[in-house]
Amino acid sequence: MSTGNVKLSAENLQAAYGDVQVLWDVSLTVERGEMVCIVGSNGAGKSTFLRCASGLLGTKGGRLLVDGQDMAGASPEAFLRRKVAHVPEGRRLFRAMSVRDNLLMGAYLRDDAAEVRQDLEKVYEIFPILAERRDQYGGTLSGGEQQMCAIGRGIMSRPELLMIDELSLGLAPRAVELLITALQTIRRSGTAILLIEQDVMTALELTERAYVMDRGRVVKAGASAAMADDPAIRDAYMGQL
Ligand SMILES: Nc1ncnc2c1ncn2[C@@H]1O[C@H](COP(=O)(O)OP(=O)(O)OP(=O)(O)O)[C@@H](O)[C@H]1O
Ligand SMILES: [Mg+2]
Repeated sequence: MSTGNVKLSAENLQAAYGDVQVLWDVSLTVERGEMVCIVGSNGAGKSTFLRCASGLLGTKGGRLLVDGQDMAGASPEAFLRRKVAHVPEGRRLFRAMSVRDNLLMGAYLRDDAAEVRQDLEKVYEIFPILAERRDQYGGTLSGGEQQMCAIGRGIMSRPELLMIDELSLGLAPRAVELLITALQTIRRSGTAILLIEQDVMTALELTERAYVMDRGRVVKAGASAAMADDPAIRDAYMGQL
């Protein structure tokens, strides 16, 4: 089957926690090498979508395809093997493990030790502060450093799609700048990025395409630049501008 350029595709996806449905007919695609964002208010279902797209939450209907393959019932490992990595909300580092070991956790499915070592060096190049702190416990890193470590862990799986939940939440502007520069570097290497970001203007500036979610549905989709100029989007999500 020809999969074309589409890395991830959701078609009318439904998802629920127990009996409570939270995603309704979500359709969304990410092409290879593309940078896409999902924006929307709290509780819209953004994190839930990423949980589905990384195998952490099963879906209740619709289809979820990676490289054109149906991922219904697939485990998180299966998504990782298909080169989809998830940087979760809250970063979730192992607090009592070193930075280096946290990074290596991202490579746990790989058996190409020499290339894993190369990728570790690549992560240290992208985030030099992590090289300085490689022996420090994950739990003692600053918020910005933790986010770098969580993204670095994602990179260690050699993803073709890196999904990041809340890039800038709680971080100082300088840390956000460093992270944005790093994302641009990662992106230039050909990795597609699906970004969830509370700062809507930053998200729209960084990405080519955007989806707006509200109460479990995609309510708008299109080019990020056009959305940044859309008065309705500005009113709803950039009230102060
Ligand atoms: N583990 C869970 N059990 C039950 N309901 C949940 C669970 N996680 C999320 N929900 C509900 O699912 C809906 C979508 O939540 P989700 O976390 O996906 O939103 P979000 O868009 O990521 O919001 P935020 O911007 O606040 O992170 C919300 O109504 C939330 O209360
Ligand atoms: Mg969320």
